[in-house]
Amino acid sequence: MQRSDEEIRALLAGVDAFSRKLVVVSPDYVILGANQFVQDRFKDSVVGKRCYELLHQSDTPCTLCPATQVFSSGSAASVLGDEFVGLDINSCLRALPIQPEGEIKAALVLDLDVPALGGLEAQLQRSNSFLRNLINSSVDGVIAADKTGRIIVFNQAASDISGYDRQHALYELDIRDVYPGEGAKNIMAKLRSEEYGGKGKLKSYPVDVVNKNGDFVPIRLNASIIYENGHEVATIGFFHDMRQALEIRQELHKTQVQLLQAEKMSSLGKLAAGVAHQLNNPLGGIILFSQLILEEYELPEGAIQDLKRILEDAQRSRDIVKELLEFARQTRQEVRPHDLNRAISRTLFLLENQSVFQNIVTKRNLAEDLPPVPADIQQLNHVFMNIILNAAEAMEGRGELRITTFKVPGRDKVAIEISDTGPGIPEEVLPHVFEPFYTTKEQGKGTGLGLSLVYGIVESHRGRIMASNNHEGGAVFRIELPLEQDSDQSDTDEG
Ligand SMILES: Nc1ncnc2c1ncn2[C@@H]1O[C@H](COP(=O)(O)OP(=O)(O)OP(=O)(O)O)[C@@H](O)[C@H]1O
Ligand SMILES: [Mg+2]
Repeated sequence: MQRSDEEIRALLAGVDAFSRKLVVVSPDYVILGANQFVQDRFKDSVVGKRCYELLHQSDTPCTLCPATQVFSSGSAASVLGDEFVGLDINSCLRALPIQPEGEIKAALVLDLDVPALGGLEAQLQRSNSFLRNLINSSVDGVIAADKTGRIIVFNQAASDISGYDRQHALYELDIRDVYPGEGAKNIMAKLRSEEYGGKGKLKSYPVDVVNKNGDFVPIRLNASIIYENGHEVATIGFFHDMRQALEIRQELHKTQVQLLQAEKMSSLGKLAAGVAHQLNNPLGGIILFSQLILEEYELPEGAIQDLKRILEDAQRSRDIVKELLEFARQTRQEVRPHDLNRAISRTLFLLENQSVFQNIVTKRNLAEDLPPVPADIQQLNHVFMNIILNAAEAMEGRGELRITTFKVPGRDKVAIEISDTGPGIPEEVLPHVFEPFYTTKEQGKGTGLGLSLVYGIVESHRGRIMASNNHEGGAVFRIELPLEQDSDQSDTDEG
């Protein structure tokens, strides 16, 4: 292609008008020509000088030189890898082959590279989105505000803690809205002081934030002031949500209280058994001597009647003491065939005279031909006692308690159903009644251990227990116990 002088002049003027580096170098790095932009940077003419000496103050060609690559590969080359190269007169980012007659005689070296810049931008974007991702995926809430209080960073966890969505926070929220009252001001004062982790820092500071609903959320705050040239430009805070930790702590405290209560109950039980034991002797004395008086003295009819009454009551007291002792006796699991009807009657006998039972009518529907069930009867006593006491408590001392026993038709099992006319068990409570320490009773009234104990005992008998409500609305507990124990068990326990 032939160019007129005029065109060549115009082109050169254009090249000179271009305010970026344009240098043509030979294969031995001698500068053959440079545009005005380059010439203006140097006092003397640059033509004839080695590019690496002039531009890079080096004695040898640069290691990362696009022109070197052009001369060896024959095609255009860029030297922007992952390294960042500053954009100035010294940077050689791209080189293009100059081929007047097919063979490469020179290379055009530029300090700009459009594809390389594109890469740079993509890289910048990638690292930006990585940083955004990093902040967003932080488990702690991250909130940054500029010095006017405008929120500039607000991550997902901050959103979870505060209830505000990100858009709202960024456009409408002020950092002062995040803390109750003068909270933000106090935190700034602490940040600026030396005392809370050094100037510009606040470490692990417990504070409340206000969420969207106006509720206080306890958090632990790590914050710092961001400075630019010594001036405060922003603050950044990391908010660690303390709700779960505090809840666990409270739960632990509650459990400790309940354990104490359970221990108290257990020692009360032991005390009761001890007292019962001690009552046995004086009761025996009363019975013995009343009988003696009755037998040995001539008494008027009225006195005989009174004495008989004393004797009856004393015998009754002795029976109660006996049952109580039987009940409280702690032994290792002892499985034998037992008549459950008798066990139920014994429990009722102990309970019926308690004041909570005064206005409770008990209805027994006990199958006469109930086969004996292999069981540890002490433990089953506890089961019946706990369920019946719960029923009495639910009925608040007034109502009807029904106990039914029967053999499950077609199965080797017996069932015991205990139902009451109380308010029943609410739907949301039902799944939890057998959990240890689950109680709906006020602090100090219930330990929540009753039914979990019951559950454990029934399980150890390979039985099942189910809680539900009857159609009148009261609670029903159904226990099913197998008639066959495992052979190895019955061998050892009954032998
Ligand atoms: N008959 C019932 N009617 C209604 N709710 C009941 C009945 N029986 C049990 N519950 C519910 O089940 C919960 C757990 O009972 P559980 O016997 O395990 O503990 P508790 O009675 O609260 O305490 P305690 O350890 O003193 O027995 C009770 O708090 C109550 O809410
Ligand atoms: Mg209970």
